[in-house]
Amino acid sequence: MKSQDVRATFLNFYKEKSHLIVPSAPMVTKDDPTLMFVNSGMAPFKEYFLGNGIPKKNRIADSQKCLRVSGKHNDLEEVGYDTYHHTLFEMLGNWSFGDYFKKEAIAWAWELLTEVYKIDKDILYVTVFEGSEDSDKLKMDTEAFDLWKEFIAEDRILKGNKKDNFWEMGEQGPCGPCSEIHVDIRSAEEKAKVDGRTLINEDHPQVVEIWNLVFMQYNRKADGSLENLPNKHIDTGMGFERLCMVLQNVQSNYDTDVFTPIIREIETITNTKYGHNEKQDIATRVISDHVRAVAFSIADGQLPSNTGAGYVIRRILRRAVRYGFTFLDKKEPFLYRLVDVLSKKMGEAFPELKAQKQLIENVIKEEETSFLRTLDQGLVLLDAIIENSSSKEISGEKVFELYDTFGFPVDLTALILSEKGFTLDEKGFQEELQKQKNRSRAASEMSTEDWTILVDDAVEEFIGYDSLDANVKLTRYRKVTSKKDGEMYQLVFNLTPFYPEGGGQVGDKGYLEDVHGDVVYILDTKKENNVIIHFTKNLPKHLNESFKAVVDEKQRYRTECNHTATHLLHQALREVLGVHVEQKGSAVHSKYLRFDFSHFSKLTTDELRDVEDFVNARIAGKLPLIERRNIPMEQALNEGALALFGEKYGDTVRAIKFGKSMELCGGTHVKNTGDIWHFKIKSEGAVASGIRRIEAITNEAVKDFYYDNNRTLFEIKDLLNNAKEPVKAVQKLQEENASLQKQIEQLLKDKAKNLSGELKNQLQEINGVQFLATKVDLDANGIKNLAFDLGKDHKNLFLLFATAPSKEKAMLTCYISKELANQRGYDAGKVVRELGKLIHGGGGGQNFFATAGGRNPGGIPNALDKAKDYLV
Ligand code: SER
Repeated sequence: MKSQDVRATFLNFYKEKSHLIVPSAPMVTKDDPTLMFVNSGMAPFKEYFLGNGIPKKNRIADSQKCLRVSGKHNDLEEVGYDTYHHTLFEMLGNWSFGDYFKKEAIAWAWELLTEVYKIDKDILYVTVFEGSEDSDKLKMDTEAFDLWKEFIAEDRILKGNKKDNFWEMGEQGPCGPCSEIHVDIRSAEEKAKVDGRTLINEDHPQVVEIWNLVFMQYNRKADGSLENLPNKHIDTGMGFERLCMVLQNVQSNYDTDVFTPIIREIETITNTKYGHNEKQDIATRVISDHVRAVAFSIADGQLPSNTGAGYVIRRILRRAVRYGFTFLDKKEPFLYRLVDVLSKKMGEAFPELKAQKQLIENVIKEEETSFLRTLDQGLVLLDAIIENSSSKEISGEKVFELYDTFGFPVDLTALILSEKGFTLDEKGFQEELQKQKNRSRAASEMSTEDWTILVDDAVEEFIGYDSLDANVKLTRYRKVTSKKDGEMYQLVFNLTPFYPEGGGQVGDKGYLEDVHGDVVYILDTKKENNVIIHFTKNLPKHLNESFKAVVDEKQRYRTECNHTATHLLHQALREVLGVHVEQKGSAVHSKYLRFDFSHFSKLTTDELRDVEDFVNARIAGKLPLIERRNIPMEQALNEGALALFGEKYGDTVRAIKFGKSMELCGGTHVKNTGDIWHFKIKSEGAVASGIRRIEAITNEAVKDFYYDNNRTLFEIKDLLNNAKEPVKAVQKLQEENASLQKQIEQLLKDKAKNLSGELKNQLQEINGVQFLATKVDLDANGIKNLAFDLGKDHKNLFLLFATAPSKEKAMLTCYISKELANQRGYDAGKVVRELGKLIHGGGGGQNFFATAGGRNPGGIPNALDKAKDYLV
């Protein structure tokens, strides 16, 4: 059965069992601070398990893109080394939200596997939770055991421990016992030798778990205790690629049609053959896996970057490049060439891949190019480290610096070192790594208390499109302590006018006031798993009374100006540059807006002008806001509304229209474009290959901008003695400056020439070496020329020059004739490194020429004095 049919069969089966089939949610999570990426099929439905929202139907099924590369579930380092772990994988899942429970979940799973997919019962095993002796004191799941007995021989039902058979979403939250279904696809011969039961959950490549049925019935609280959930739920997750392996009768996920087209392409590009060399096979698996993860992430709007989710993607991509570089000898970009076959294979089920193929290729190619450059630089640095090392073991600190500062992978360092007969101090490296981990853990450490519930009201109404203040009741609160913000309180109300950060727009600020006049400031508002959370430094005194909740009107208004201007900018870019322009990110603050979009080249001055004019014309046109809430998604799209990739939309959406600009948007906007007053682009630049960024301002900020520019101009005029034409006056100054610069350079050259003559006479012969250590009054370049000039006439020169350009600056330059350095093992780098300490600084270079800078000119006489000591 082809992989497409495997997926379709699953969805059809559950559709027939009255499940609503939904598309995969985007992989990058938006309103869940505990999760960077969707790491299991249930993650997009967390709000329903937590009771923060009501699902459209209490039975749902889908195939969800998952990424297990960070946090609690992280498989990254395993990928490639076995045949069944992946970074990106599809999880087929069916859910019951307070509807059916174990009986149906088990019976249907069995029916699907054995009657629909027709998997031989004799290769299946199931596990049930055996209970736990720890503080949870949980009983064995006899209910599941009895239910399984109806379908499968008792000796194929194994008891499993808490690690394998009790599923928890995170440190806190819904959890419960689970039953896993495992397959044993070994040959009959192998089976006769070793009993399959002994291989369950033992990391055997042919005895693997394919499906996990979780019976959610508890909530794990902050203090670690468990409480019963009011409603019981089902969460199942089946590994799509593993299921394909079983149904296609192959021994590895990588031999299924999900991966083989990519692997064939890698073979062609790298001129290798999969299945012949273990190292190359690992590299091929790594690459075929990672290119999927990276491509899907970019399609979902997550570009590789230096922080957060973007950094994780960058690391995955670099891991693939590194394996290609090391084991498949690919020294030029090639991953991007795999996107074509990937989008052909998966584009049907995931149209976002097809639609953004060109962009994905561009971004991957640029990342590869820049990382290969890093690798090149790293190789040079590593050579220098090897050359300067007095021991055969390179210190962990040095290797860590290479890894941390230059992004040079440690396994590559180890490989190169061993090729050159060196080793690395692995323990020292691990210590440095641990220190860094501790530092970042300490910075991000956070403890969250359980919610204190005041009113049991799960659904918090947002009224902030229509009102900026309201009388509210506090329904729950909790304390959160972090290193960054100290102690903060999170408050939830029955209704709220506060807009929570989302769609690029910042969260509202404001205050709460009770009838006694006590005020608490709301510092930020965010959405977490569908609940609007208000952040305060203090807890209100009278928790059970009503409060007047008031949004900071000025900040909201300025933010709205920027949000509406963002829509107009989007429209302008598509109008001026073309409809290939797609939004790739936006940040709407009260002071500025930032807009990232796909476009292949830098905007010309004329294009920028046209974009500004287009937006300002619509502002001058005083276009009214036409807002439609809850219109069907399809209707909005038919009317031409712009939707974004990587955004999660419901069946009904909110459409925002100003003239011909129409977008699906949950943010807040001005009532009329005239309110914006004016729009001004402040900068335009590249974020990644094919992605540009515009930063712009509106309203008051534009006034301030012009006012500041004007003031600067007056100050310049003032400095130029009220020149009528300041531009010309500045040009004249620049010309004068350039001519003076030239004169100075000539004077310095003359001075160096004279000096060279003078210094020749001062050379002293010591131990067969022409030696001079002296202070000279030249700049760095002058000193270098002087040293090489003197060097022309001598083959046995040892010079140390010092200069002090200011009271806090000193410089040492050491020149040694190459022949002399090589014959006697003199090292200018070592000289300046050691003597550099005397001027409170450091430096380095080659054995024949090196410089050091420092902060202490007072140390110069001492350094000059000590230079002789190197002549022994
Ligand atoms: N949440 C469970 C898992 O990820 C089942 O979907 O294994």
